[in-house]
Formats: sequence, structure tokens, C-alpha cells
Amino acid sequence: MRITTEQNDIARVLFSEEQIARRVKELGAQLMEQYAGKEPLMVCILKGASFFYTDLCRAMHCNVFMDFIAISSYGAGSKSTGVVRISKDLDTNITGRHVVIVEDIIDSGLTLQYLTELLSSRKPASIQTACLLDKRERRGGAAHTGITGFVIPDEFVVGYGLDYAGYYRNLPYIGVLKAEVYTD
Ligand code: IMP
Ligand code: MG
Repeated sequence: MRITTEQNDIARVLFSEEQIARRVKELGAQLMEQYAGKEPLMVCILKGASFFYTDLCRAMHCNVFMDFIAISSYGAGSKSTGVVRISKDLDTNITGRHVVIVEDIIDSGLTLQYLTELLSSRKPASIQTACLLDKRERRGGAAHTGITGFVIPDEFVVGYGLDYAGYYRNLPYIGVLKAEVYTD
């Protein structure tokens, strides 16, 4: 296995820094309108959503509250197992709050389903998910319900927070990782 942060591990750029910035501003405006007067609690799923989250919150010119939850799926592979462990819970009591869960990517949907169920059990006033990338092919074409940035093909992507084994998160763009990097 060869892992570097070199750009030549990227087969192609899917979304440039500028394309991401433009789309995130649109999503921020959409959320701002939807949550006018509601002071939403924006929940960041660490670590993948971190860049998306901070850009999205800054694109909302209204009162928002911020909190973070860290989850880890077991293993460092390229596919989600659906088994999720909370390694850092929220600090906020979300009962009666308007919660927006901010996630980097929805693949099988298991991670978001698990978290939505978990946080719903704490009786928020409302709950919705904002997801930058949607691999809906992997769910038989079923659209992510909530706020979606881009629909992408079933390929492994990295950058702008997304990693492979902890690498590539700090790439400013989103790119498809060369298969040889993770299939050796
Ligand atoms: P799901 O539970 O199958 O929806 O997987 C969601 C999680 O798997 C995301 O939070 C990511 O951590 C990870 N994931 C899925 N696809 C990718 C990808 O293409 N690149 C990086 N991480 C991914
Ligand atoms: Mg993740």
C-alpha cells in the first residue's frame, strides 16, 4: 500500500475549491431561509464534515449554535461497516432544539440513519441532515432527504475533510482517489 498526500494519488478532481465554495454558500442561504428565527443547532460529525461545517455555518448570516459529535466506524477501510461508535458526544441538550446534522458524505446511509435515530430519541423540535456529497447509486438511486450538496458516482473520494485512513483531508478540493492507492 502506498499512501502519500501527493496530488498524483488523485485520479481526477471532482469539485474544485471554487465550485465547493459556491455550492456551500447556496446551501447556507437555503438553510438560513428555512430556519429563519429558529436559531438552529448545527451538529458537526467529526472529523470528515469539519471543513464543510465551518464553511456552511459561516454562510448562514443568522444566529446558529454549534456543537460537535465524533463517531468512528470500526476499521480504516474504504467502505462503511454500519457499526458506529460515539467517541465524543454533544455537549448540548438538544431537547426542543432545531437540529441540523452536518455530514460529509452519504454512502450506504447507515451512519446518518444511526445518528438521526440516536438524536431523535432526545426529542429535538426538528431534525434534518445536511450532507455535502450523496452517492445515491449505492442506495438504488434513493435521494438523501435533507440538504444535499452534490450527487456523485460510486467512487472513493477524498479531500475537503474526506479521508482515506486519515490521509488527504486537507486537500482543498474533492477528488477521486486512484484505486491502486487502496487496493494493493
Ligand atoms: P455510510 O454509513 O455508508 O453512509 O458511510 C458514510 C461514511 O463513510 C462517511 O461519513 C465517510 O466517513 C465514509 N465514506 C463513504 N464514502 C466515502 C468516500 O468516498 N470517501 C471518504 N469517506 C467515505
Ligand atoms: Mg465520516
